[in-house]
Amino acid sequence: MKKLRVGVLASGRGSNLQAIINASESGKIPAEVAVVISDNAEAPALDRAREHGIPAVYLHPPYYQSKEEYEQRIVLELREYGVELVCLAGYMRLVGRVLLEEFPNRIMNIHPALLPSFKGLHGQRQALEYGVRYSGCTVHFVDSGMDTGPIILQAVVPVLPEDGEEELAARILEREHVIYPEAVRLFAEGRLRVEGRKVIILPGEE
Ligand code: GRF
Repeated sequence: MKKLRVGVLASGRGSNLQAIINASESGKIPAEVAVVISDNAEAPALDRAREHGIPAVYLHPPYYQSKEEYEQRIVLELREYGVELVCLAGYMRLVGRVLLEEFPNRIMNIHPALLPSFKGLHGQRQALEYGVRYSGCTVHFVDSGMDTGPIILQAVVPVLPEDGEEELAARILEREHVIYPEAVRLFAEGRLRVEGRKVIILPGEE
């Protein structure tokens, strides 16, 4: 099967990027990370890309006049590397019109909470403060809202009485690293169909 070309946008640590790279390299998913783009020159995600021989591109946001111009530059890079699916992995900016129009239903994000609960920053802290018994993570397609797009996969973890933010975040992260590559795999196999708010997962061959 031809490998799906994935472009990853990341601002920081890049552990989800790493999970996608590992799944691709080991042949678990019919995909390859074609380019990693960051708005943060210091992002460890860029180093992770380089270590795997993946082009790592830093784009300096203040250099651009507007969000549109910045995203146009991102689009040029993504086209240059023949990207078919964009994965946001700890990308700290809201995606705008330019990227959305170029990649309709072709941008995914991972969020560290069970959407639609606890959108935005610090999903794990919000869950703890609210007092929920379960939280988790969500992979979704990106639309113009913040963490509002159609949900592809979710995983649930318990919130334990002794949990601090760090413990809960670590438990959630372990699941993130499973469901994000899995969502990419489903996409690569052509098994995701978006119908309004819902994502239909078509049966596979296994
Ligand atoms: C993850 O918790 C993800 O859910 C959120 O940002 C964090 C990124 O972590 N969107 P990493 O950079 O992938 O390690």
